[in-house]
Amino acid sequence: MQINSFEAYQQAYKHSVENPEEFWAGIADNFLWKKKWDKVLSWNFSEPNVKWFEGAKLNITENCLDRHLAEHGDTPAIIWEPNDPEKDPITLTYKILHVQVCRFANVLKKNGVKKGDRICIYMPMVPELAVAVLACARIGAVHSVIFGGFSAQSIADRINDAKCKLVITADGSFRGNKQIQLKEVIDDALIGCPTVEKVIVLTNTRTPVSMIKGRDIWWEDEVKLVDANCPAEEMDAEDMLFILYTSGSTGKPKGVVHTVGGYMVYAGYTFTNVFNYQPDEVFFCTADIGWITGHSYIVYGPLSQGATTLMFEGIPTYPDASRMWQIVEKHKVNILYTAPTAIRSLMSFGTEPIQGHDLSSLRVLGSVGEPINEEAWHWYNEEIGKDNCPIVDTWWQTENGGIMISPIAFVTPTKPSYATLPLPGIQPVLVDEAGNEIEGNGVSGNLCIKFPWPGILRTTYGDHERCKLTYFSTYKDMYFTGDGCMRDQDGYYKITGRVDDVINVSGHRIGTAEVENAINMHSGVVESAVVGFPHDVKGQGIYAFVIFGNSQHDEDLNKRDILQTVTRVIGAIAKPDKILFVSGLPKTRSGKIMRRILRKIAEGETSNLGDTSTLLDPAVVEEIVEGAAKLR
Ligand code: WT7
Repeated sequence: MQINSFEAYQQAYKHSVENPEEFWAGIADNFLWKKKWDKVLSWNFSEPNVKWFEGAKLNITENCLDRHLAEHGDTPAIIWEPNDPEKDPITLTYKILHVQVCRFANVLKKNGVKKGDRICIYMPMVPELAVAVLACARIGAVHSVIFGGFSAQSIADRINDAKCKLVITADGSFRGNKQIQLKEVIDDALIGCPTVEKVIVLTNTRTPVSMIKGRDIWWEDEVKLVDANCPAEEMDAEDMLFILYTSGSTGKPKGVVHTVGGYMVYAGYTFTNVFNYQPDEVFFCTADIGWITGHSYIVYGPLSQGATTLMFEGIPTYPDASRMWQIVEKHKVNILYTAPTAIRSLMSFGTEPIQGHDLSSLRVLGSVGEPINEEAWHWYNEEIGKDNCPIVDTWWQTENGGIMISPIAFVTPTKPSYATLPLPGIQPVLVDEAGNEIEGNGVSGNLCIKFPWPGILRTTYGDHERCKLTYFSTYKDMYFTGDGCMRDQDGYYKITGRVDDVINVSGHRIGTAEVENAINMHSGVVESAVVGFPHDVKGQGIYAFVIFGNSQHDEDLNKRDILQTVTRVIGAIAKPDKILFVSGLPKTRSGKIMRRILRKIAEGETSNLGDTSTLLDPAVVEEIVEGAAKLR
């Protein structure tokens, strides 16, 4: 299933377009099925209704664990590097991981979890997080992992949306020199979550926590009460595997739904190909399992291929900016997959932290989450890859399940800041505002995909209409990505960024409406408008224009209160980088905020604000421009 030459890529691509069913059946043959499919694909994008490998039976954990035991049982499945470099790393071989997953799956069963039940996981980046995820999949429970940076309110919203029955968490987490009290956040969240019956708490930081009788139980106690034999639940290919919440341009985050069969095939196929993974290599993806990148390229992709996946608890700058390179050297990492924001942040420390670290084990470098600027690309290539490692700039989204447009390492000639070419099975099209396909090369437009691939989302949990509206209604019979894109003379794709009201902060998706709602919860705020602006390290920052009522406090304190409010409502990741108090917002006569103008002001591009004559009150623009200049 591994592509080894550009000709082989072209052939595979052609095959995947001319006969997608035959192509994907051939790929799926590399996985373990309890029963093969009756039909490879049935689909329409109008409802939408997409089904892959219908009639097939499988369990993804047999693909990620059991099938490797006979020959590779002693191969490390997970290498865990703790936050504290003085602490010993932990290695879980496939055999050990299998036992732990089966045991914990039995814990879930013992606590009443059944196939189809939704389980919320809010945990630090410790091996038990991967164990919890896989244990759910073992018994057919649907996991909904929530990133450790989200607030109690955000967690409650997600738990209630999915009607989760059980929560798996830990006392706390270590991140750099900080500790986060995870259980405390869960306790706050659960005040408003009537569906949750049990909370399983892992001991990690061993900070004091409240334990409520009848509800809260310790992970360590529970695993002692069960045995390590847990047959894998037989799942239909189209049964739900997980829900992962992600932000869009409107409303609250949506629960993106992925199903077992197609997701597995797509995560595994893209993992082995894009990174050219070779047996016994160490693959290090720096994402958190709370995001899709962690789901697909720390857990399911690598494990389905019998790979060794490195999980890191901490942050790249703790205890100092050489930490990543220490880890690469210590664990002889062969493939490193990280985000442009991390590269830019480490770049700002110069090359001194790299010196003295042996990076010669590195063979392939990956980038994900946001456009990588040329400067960062070159630094990554020269300082980390020593001009000797292909860089795979992988474009994809939570909704896609796996990498969509990307070079294949050692196969696709790369070009700085280009995601290059679509992987086999992916049919991208660029469309204009009217929805017409823009053909040929040297063109730009909105990026759509016109044919399904196995990893495509199936629905948004509990609200199929929203899935249809968000992704399949903007352009007829196409999946709309929300991204703008350029296709150059060579047919290479370059993603230019979101064209909707979504901001990409350090590779994390945040909806402007969500941040506005959070700001507006502050008692002193009359109205607000939020836009993204270019940020040297984060890619994009959050800029908030706020109309504030009368206040007894000074401006600075009010701003800090707003930040605190946003942290409470969403989480620290959504805190605005800049807040400008204004007396009015640029609105059209029909009351619509003209974000285009605010975006330009936030970018500092005030010389050409375009046509402001349709504004209700053009004078507010001048005031905002002046205020913004002072804030810079
Ligand atoms: C959005 C998806 C699944 C990856 C993690 C983020 C942006 C992602 C790239 C890239 C340019 C990229 C897009 C996309 N994006 N990768 N290589 N080059 N932009 O997943 O949170 O679902 O965000 O991230 O704008 O729409 P996500």
